Amino acid sequence: MKAAQFSRFGGPEVLEIVDLPEPHPAAGEIRIAVHAAGVNASDWKKRQGLMDQELPQTLGYEAAGVVDELGDGVTDVAIGDRVVGAGPSGAAQAELFILSDWAPIPPGLDFADAAALPAVAETAARALDQLGELSESTDLAGRTILINGASGSVGSAATQLAIGRGARVIGTAGPSNQAYLASLGAVPVVYGDGLADRVRDLSPGGVDLALDIAGNGILPELIDLAGGADNVLTVADVNGAHAHGVRFSRGDGGRATYALPLVAGLIADGAFTLPVGQTFPLQDIAQAHRVGESGRVRGKLVLLVE
Ligand SMILES: NC(=O)c1ccc[n+]([C@@H]2O[C@H](COP(=O)([O-])OP(=O)(O)OC[C@H]3O[C@@H](n4cnc5c(N)ncnc54)[C@H](OP(=O)(O)O)[C@@H]3O)[C@@H](O)[C@H]2O)c1
Repeated sequence: MKAAQFSRFGGPEVLEIVDLPEPHPAAGEIRIAVHAAGVNASDWKKRQGLMDQELPQTLGYEAAGVVDELGDGVTDVAIGDRVVGAGPSGAAQAELFILSDWAPIPPGLDFADAAALPAVAETAARALDQLGELSESTDLAGRTILINGASGSVGSAATQLAIGRGARVIGTAGPSNQAYLASLGAVPVVYGDGLADRVRDLSPGGVDLALDIAGNGILPELIDLAGGADNVLTVADVNGAHAHGVRFSRGDGGRATYALPLVAGLIADGAFTLPVGQTFPLQDIAQAHRVGESGRVRGKLVLLVE
């Protein structure tokens, strides 16, 4: 099967499409013929050698497609079903992918819309759960949460899920995404110099909790606004987390597997949306990385597999 891979670290030019052996599902897993696979910021961090050090590496944790093989014990889907999900191999950007978690594709979503969901939904739900765990009550209802990077893919999901849990969200975004954030139900605020003053204008006593998704080095400001490092969590600034005593959330510390079916249900009810920013054929993966690294597109990037 065709799959995206790189055999040395470097720029987008190291990405190539290679032939790999077909994978087969273990007990409790399923295999899909991939139609679309999500692209994440971790893809270019891996490609740059900032994460795993082994070579070669495949890419992708999430995909949508049609079930074509069932592992032992799987009874809730059938060959030919349209599903979206995530798997452990890190090789979703390929013609075939093994899912360990999945959900039916919500009505009205195409494969690209669906492939955008798993990693974003899981990260957002996990981060909010862990943010709640930082304080005495895990209930986010009635809390004011500052989400830094609220207009991005993870941020859009976290904003909607937090509001759905009854929180008031103040979200940072660039000037062109203020109206978008307001449409999600957040109170928008422009990031950059003077952010702390602008947040205090909106919430004079500061905020109850802060979630950093942009990773742009403002943990000290978030700590100040939220009344201490214990009220702040980041998914994007591992060095800042160490430096300032802030909790860093990563998927290998327990994944929120409930998030995908939750979000699929919310989409079916018209209560959740996640825009796809741009799609690319699998063979144009290098261009997808260039666009993603430029940070100039709103919404998820998705690779389409013919
Ligand atoms: N730890 C984990 O488990 C985990 C899982 C998934 C993702 N992540 C990380 O989460 C981060 C966000 O991912 P994503 O897919 O949501 O990215 P994204 O869609 O590109 O969103 C980036 C966000 O950062 C904002 N931003 C850009 N430049 C900024 C600046 N100079 N100052 C403040 N904010 C700025 C953007 O705002 P505008 O677009 O409005 O300018 C946007 O809200 C990445 O670092 C990714 O690696 C972590």
